[in-house]
Amino acid sequence: PLSAMEQEDASKKKMGSLHGIPLFKSFIEGWPQVNAFQARPDDLLISTYPKSGTTWLSEIMDMIYHDGDVEKCRRDAIYNRVPFLELKVPEVLSGVEQLENTPSPRLVKTHLPVQLLPTSFWEKDCKIIYMARNPKDVAISYYYFHLMAKIHPDPGTKAEFLENFMAGKVPYGSWYDHVRGWWEKKQEKKILYLFYEDMKKDPRREVQKILQFLGKELAEGTVERILHHTSFQEMKKNPAANYETMHSTEMDHKISPFLRKGISGDWKNHFTVAQNERFDQHYQEHMAGSDLHFQME
Ligand code: A3P
Repeated sequence: PLSAMEQEDASKKKMGSLHGIPLFKSFIEGWPQVNAFQARPDDLLISTYPKSGTTWLSEIMDMIYHDGDVEKCRRDAIYNRVPFLELKVPEVLSGVEQLENTPSPRLVKTHLPVQLLPTSFWEKDCKIIYMARNPKDVAISYYYFHLMAKIHPDPGTKAEFLENFMAGKVPYGSWYDHVRGWWEKKQEKKILYLFYEDMKKDPRREVQKILQFLGKELAEGTVERILHHTSFQEMKKNPAANYETMHSTEMDHKISPFLRKGISGDWKNHFTVAQNERFDQHYQEHMAGSDLHFQME
């Protein structure tokens, strides 16, 4: 393992800061194009803090957009069907370029904190679905993602990563600011705010909420097919949904699969009692005064 200093050096090569938010340097290079992005009125934005169920929601949305046609949803990998707005890495199309080539109605993925969303999404009054997940599971999922997805800096030990996560010293910054920022925006804008834990407990009800938000109706059998196709087990074996088509120099599923566990409460298998107490304390301090609540399992 790297020493703390070596870790910091390696991290500095990959990470920069965008308006105070830690982000990959390569993404920051592409920022002018992202900031100037021209949304279309019928774009639908899928917004999340990383590891909160983005891919799951994306697959559900693509299925809804294609009336539950499984074959159509196998047409390409999920990261091409739902382009990642701020993605910018050498030698592949940027998210903005991909989106320019995508016919309407487009599904757009972003992890940007609310204050950094390109203004065009607000001007065009685009529909937005935000999905949040409890921070303990996000932290653990993010730790394993740092190990397998090579764009990330070395996370160090789990204990070290947990400290950095709490302090917001991870890509996209503070989870607290992210979930709270988008929650507050809901007061004034058309945002459907969903929770991973609700989706796990009653996916049918959550899909109905989405349909209502979209003003769309689907036959009972179609909803059934969507639920089946987007279950963890089905997505895990679906090459169009499981990221295994990505080059192994970018993601190494042997270290940790992208669809890793797909449950609520896995943090219990990882947090020590002391870490959990510290986390709870920190959580209470940082969520104080908010009416936003999370189910931790
Ligand atoms: P775990 O690492 O806890 O398993 P994102 O898509 O935002 O990167 O989030 C990834 C997390 O969502 C991973 O969590 C992954 O397993 C989980 N996930 C993906 N598809 C899922 C599904 N169909 N059902 C439940 N969880 C899913």
